[in-house]
Amino acid sequence: MKTRWYKDAVVYQIYPRSFCDGNGDGVGDIRGIISKLDYIKSLGVDAVWLSPVYKSPNDDNGYDISDYRDIMDEFGTLDDWKEMIAGMHERGIRLVMDLVVNHTSDEHAWFVESRNKDSEYRDYYIWRRGRGKDGKKPPNNWTSNFTGPAWEYDEESGEWYLHLFSKKQPDLNWENPKVRQEVADICNYWFDLGVDGFRCDVITYISKKDGLPNGKPAFLLVGYEQYAVGPRYHEYIHELNERSFSRYDSMTVGESIGITPDNAFDAIDESVGELDSVFSFDHMSVDFRLNVLPKRFDLVKFKKVLDRWQQLPKTCQPTVFLENHDQPRCLPRFVGDYKDKRELAGMSLAAAILFLRATPYIYQGQEIGMTNCNFAVEDYKDIMSVNALATVKKVAPILMPYAKKVLLKRARDHARTPMQWTDGDNAGFSTAEPWMKVNPNFKDINVKDSEAREDSLLNFYRKAISYRKGKDVVISGDFSLVRPKHKDVFAYVREFKGQRLLVIANFKNKRVKFKLPNDFAFESSKLALANYKDAQDLQNNLLLREYEALVYEIK
Ligand code: NOJ
Repeated sequence: MKTRWYKDAVVYQIYPRSFCDGNGDGVGDIRGIISKLDYIKSLGVDAVWLSPVYKSPNDDNGYDISDYRDIMDEFGTLDDWKEMIAGMHERGIRLVMDLVVNHTSDEHAWFVESRNKDSEYRDYYIWRRGRGKDGKKPPNNWTSNFTGPAWEYDEESGEWYLHLFSKKQPDLNWENPKVRQEVADICNYWFDLGVDGFRCDVITYISKKDGLPNGKPAFLLVGYEQYAVGPRYHEYIHELNERSFSRYDSMTVGESIGITPDNAFDAIDESVGELDSVFSFDHMSVDFRLNVLPKRFDLVKFKKVLDRWQQLPKTCQPTVFLENHDQPRCLPRFVGDYKDKRELAGMSLAAAILFLRATPYIYQGQEIGMTNCNFAVEDYKDIMSVNALATVKKVAPILMPYAKKVLLKRARDHARTPMQWTDGDNAGFSTAEPWMKVNPNFKDINVKDSEAREDSLLNFYRKAISYRKGKDVVISGDFSLVRPKHKDVFAYVREFKGQRLLVIANFKNKRVKFKLPNDFAFESSKLALANYKDAQDLQNNLLLREYEALVYEIK
């Protein structure tokens, strides 16, 4: 029976490599997570989304899986994992695992077998003859999301295999019914071990266009759209839902490039039996052109994009997030130069997202306001950054200074610096040198310090999460923006059976006038949450302080 528990849930994302190192080898692991379960519980979150912990050669930090039924050595053992999930469940926290099934690792036994043309596993992947007389040109012009062609030539069999990510991440052939059954079996294996759901990695890529036609020439990362939501996507997910998801009280969230508010109904409505929700990235491209090149953040557009998801029927559950392991940190991305007001700015962002009709996802470190890191070229570890730098160096070295500038804003590495627990050695993340640079600001920004201050961002998150819990007006109230065109303030009303909640968040490091619309009527108001101590009662004309966030219950 589906309880749809995710409608009243806040999810905390853990990127295990960077969360906490339990065995002193410099790499985060499952025992490290176990040691922090009380901390996670203290946030008031309902579920954890755990980035991949399966066996993997780590070409893409676990998003290249070589065994779907076992745990990566660096992260521990299946017994550790069982102890971790039991510890979560004891604390009332559900576990959402990452399901990476658009591709496997090239070290997965299926792919190793598949290199042999006569193997029954050949058809588990997408092998094609090349173009040209000698077949030495890739079968089509598709590019990988990590730069370069999406095809790799295999000398032995004289054919090419498709990889929409690195060449160590060959794409599975979902046209093959055996592959689809394998995926359902993997999901059921983990459900039977107790997991509560899956975050489905690049799931809209699974169905490729018939005949694999050439796409629009790709520039940078704009290969995306041409692979997304292929002809049999819905059929495959529906089938997976029948064989697996629907049999458990589960929650699924797809990383779903190509699903927009216009076609979301067909993908996530409760009536369609596919996924329960998706991550959209439209609000993440408000400050990046082509997903990569920085441009000025536009709050009006940001609100508009989120509003479109809010207006979907109540049987479609939106999600909201400001960070994940693929995005730079949200400070100062959406709030400009916060100077000495980092935590106030973080609170304004938190207030803006936590009361939307959505399942909010909070990424590790966001709750203490971790920031981007001032990396030198040699600090980058992510395959995407490393490849991008190598390509620019080779193809257009003159653009290197620009590339460096872009990475300082855009690299996925910013989210992957070790979690800052204390002001001690290695930020309390590990007793050994961490696999990745620790952000030097850990002396000031860390959990220990945040715990010690009642007015910290961390404690604001706790208050806000606890306040929203179980409130019908948050779970299912109607949503409307207040002054959608205001370029500094994100304000909205939620309304459910006569209960109303008004959220006002100043996104700027300056005092801002905010006038309620003339037809905005209220008899009384009660302040429910604020990030300044002496917050004012609601009035028609407000003068908001820097990053001031106010949540009122109104009648
Ligand atoms: C999306 C994941 O979030 C990202 O980290 C990964 O590199 C790609 N999918 C490939 O699996």
